Amino acid sequence: MENIIDKIVSLCKRRGFIFPDSEIYGGLANTWDFGPLGVELKNNIKKLWWQNIVIQRDDIAGLDSSIIINPKVWEASGHVSGFADPLVECKSCHTRFKFDDLMKGKYGEVSMKDGYPHCPLCGGELTEEKKFNLMFKTFLGPVEDKGHLAYLRPETAQGIFINFKQILNASRQKIPFGIAQIGKSFRNEITPGNFIFRTREFEQMELEYFVKPSESKKWYRYWQEERLNWYFNLGIKKEHLRLREHSKEELAHYALSCADIEYQFPFLNDEGWGELEGIANRGDYDLKNHQEHSGKDLSYFDEETKESYLPYVIEPSAGVERSLLAFLLDAYHEEKDKNNETRVVLKLHPQLAPIKVAVFPLLKNNPELVNLAQKIYQDLKLSLNVLVDYDEVGSIGRRYRRQDEVGTPWCLTIDHQSLEDKTVTIRDRDTMQQERIKIEEIENFLRKKLTNV
Ligand code: GAP
Repeated sequence: MENIIDKIVSLCKRRGFIFPDSEIYGGLANTWDFGPLGVELKNNIKKLWWQNIVIQRDDIAGLDSSIIINPKVWEASGHVSGFADPLVECKSCHTRFKFDDLMKGKYGEVSMKDGYPHCPLCGGELTEEKKFNLMFKTFLGPVEDKGHLAYLRPETAQGIFINFKQILNASRQKIPFGIAQIGKSFRNEITPGNFIFRTREFEQMELEYFVKPSESKKWYRYWQEERLNWYFNLGIKKEHLRLREHSKEELAHYALSCADIEYQFPFLNDEGWGELEGIANRGDYDLKNHQEHSGKDLSYFDEETKESYLPYVIEPSAGVERSLLAFLLDAYHEEKDKNNETRVVLKLHPQLAPIKVAVFPLLKNNPELVNLAQKIYQDLKLSLNVLVDYDEVGSIGRRYRRQDEVGTPWCLTIDHQSLEDKTVTIRDRDTMQQERIKIEEIENFLRKKLTNV
């Protein structure tokens, strides 16, 4: 299992899930592009989150706010002053390190002098700690001065808080209610790495759920359960997820309490447990600060009790790429077949699988088989509105293997019997069992499987 991440990186590149970015120019470190199958998987994750959080409920509304917003927002939110990592720099080799990482032993044992560490790479003297803000800066318009400074958002959450009142009025929601958003966030991470686990550009799926302050503990627990179950229902193994409550020292500047949903990533220290999603009780930190800084009333008026108050916020905040990586790792299996050959199979939940079904004519030089296979392929694509693959190259066994490796749950083979009795074989990715099914029943069979989470 140690080199599973190498296997995943290689599979992702070979089969078009994830490519190193700008490769023709030698790449850009820790930057990745999502290829034809990767973008499908990513879209499926986002769609399933959105369906679960927005579409299937009646207490949550959606939003798509801007990436570059008024920089005053980031002053009010505490990001300008507080969203920073303490850094030290080696005076000899000029490498920069997160001070915390050095002290936690991320670079192995570091030699100390008068209680202060020396460079783990060259043994040189380190500078004093300096705060390094993680927000990417840019300028609005042609003048590059302080008055035109703006930031790329480091979280989507603030776009939600600044739209709270407008959404409340437009959707006539009553508390408890939530606002959900999916979108890109940017952080100038000092130590990106571990494939797509930590990058400088990534996508978040965030929900801000506004509640009565006295009920915040209840909803904090509620969202922990909901979110854990979302991962379990999409196939993540129970033993690979855990919920870890933050200690007081660990809490972000805005949080009253926070618990991480952690996945056991095989490449991280600490037995691999790494954050997949944070669920925080942000209290009234954000609305209060935006109310103070903007001078606008952001309180909620309760029609029943005739009271006004600032709601508390429970925030489940997930990373799209991190969940994609967890889904891939959890789905990856190597099995020996009856000829003792290794079968690589991604046992992705059918709703996540990029390609839902593949269609094969048994022989590529038999026009009758090819025509029927092409017709089934085209019909399914349009009627189900999902990605369907067509493959006529190589033996059926090899074609099955190619689909197994990218997680396609079903393969249909059109053979001579198909021409006589209008049936095809349908082969299941996980059991490898084949059965015959009437052509006219394929669409319903797949539709049922694909809506049944
Ligand atoms: N609004 C709260 C917030 O942003 P966070 O714990 O900093 O909280 C939430 O981020 C999630 O976003 C993380 O659990 C992780 O999945 C994802 N995330 C954060 N930084 C990331 C990075 N540099 N690369 C990839 N994903 C990241």
